[in-house]
Amino acid sequence: MVKRQIPKVRDLAPLMQFKKPELNGKKRRLDAALTIEDLRRIAKRRTPTAAFDYTDGSAEAELSITRARQAFQDIEFSPSILRDVSKVSTGWDVLGAPVAQPFGIAPTGFTRMMQTEGEIAGAHAAARAGIPFSLSTMGTTSIEDVRDANPHGRNWFQLYMWKDRERSMSLVDRAAKAGYDTLLVTVDVPVAGARLRDKRNGMTIPPALTPGTVLNALPRPQWWIDFLTTEPLSFASIDRWSGTVAELLDTMFDPTVTFEDLAWIKEQWPGKLVVKGIQTLDDAKAVTALGVDGLVLSNHGGRQLDRAPIPFHLLPEVAREVGKDTEVMIDTGIMSGADIVASIALGARFTLVGRVYLYGLMAGGEAGVNRAVDILSEQVERTMRLLGVTALEELGPGHVTQLERLVPRPR
Ligand SMILES: Cc1cc2nc3c(=O)[nH]c(=O)nc-3n(C[C@H](O)[C@H](O)[C@H](O)COP(=O)(O)O)c2cc1C
Repeated sequence: MVKRQIPKVRDLAPLMQFKKPELNGKKRRLDAALTIEDLRRIAKRRTPTAAFDYTDGSAEAELSITRARQAFQDIEFSPSILRDVSKVSTGWDVLGAPVAQPFGIAPTGFTRMMQTEGEIAGAHAAARAGIPFSLSTMGTTSIEDVRDANPHGRNWFQLYMWKDRERSMSLVDRAAKAGYDTLLVTVDVPVAGARLRDKRNGMTIPPALTPGTVLNALPRPQWWIDFLTTEPLSFASIDRWSGTVAELLDTMFDPTVTFEDLAWIKEQWPGKLVVKGIQTLDDAKAVTALGVDGLVLSNHGGRQLDRAPIPFHLLPEVAREVGKDTEVMIDTGIMSGADIVASIALGARFTLVGRVYLYGLMAGGEAGVNRAVDILSEQVERTMRLLGVTALEELGPGHVTQLERLVPRPR
């Protein structure tokens, strides 16, 4: 029998903890988000469906992104015990200059449509965290304004080659003059992928006011207030457009770009050159032979070819084959710092995050991007400590086993 007693006030007092309520709603919301998934849920609540789906969605049946995320979950870590992990360093050099974390912000188009602070929020957050910020050719903030938002940090410019090459190269020229240290040349968009959610939502750029969008706006007033009371959505580098994203891409982009063009672009650019969108070992070897400084294993966050190779599965072999001659980076599907640590362990020098940044942005503007970056940074650091490593250099293939699922059958 358990002996019972009447509780005394004296015993209860230490159990009673009344925290001062957080009156700032945004801070309360963001502090309560413990994972990127939490930020995604907040983002979804606060953003009109068409803009949220444009960001969250990918191409066709969305198998590429689902599989890429699954592959990160399908790993097993092998920790080492009894190491002194009181101090951990999460930075090293990437493309000849330091980064404070092994991840940076990926280039994304139309960013101010997701939340009005857009690229400036991302550039400020990157400056605060000591990580690179990438501006897309389809960005909604100018090359110079992004540089001014991150004047001492690293800015990278992402190039899509347009049919009007002179205009594309004039952007490259501006980026060089503004001190961007790296050019990311994206090679996985010869034509636009089929983003079916956008079609179904009737998504246009800029968003149109229709009975459907007005109804959808009612529970999300803050987004509309922001949208209607700040500078109209315009592109950093293109004149106004009204149509779907796919139409815009197919009108502007040059589907004839080849390896010779890449070599030519490389000659024009004074800084580091990275090819983004490599999806086979052969192509990784081919661009390495051209002498590029880095490559990104990526299927564009699943937004182009559906059923594309899973970048994380390609990583070990590509890192082994070309990692000594070029810096191998990876994106697509990263949702946690543990995914980043696993990538570094399997040979990546760096990782990029697209949606992680945008979920944070939609959840709370610049404060939301800061929260997203903090969540990843804490996860990177904690995972390293739990693995028994104190520096990125100590991570190796022995720390990660990729569990089998979706492995190719022998041909
Ligand atoms: C909304 C959105 C817009 C994007 N726009 C571009 C772009 O303009 N140029 C580009 O090279 N990649 C673009 N990407 C791809 C990202 O750079 C990156 O490869 C991808 O988001 C990585 O996958 P993740 O979202 O799972 O992190 C975009 C991705 C998203 C989600």
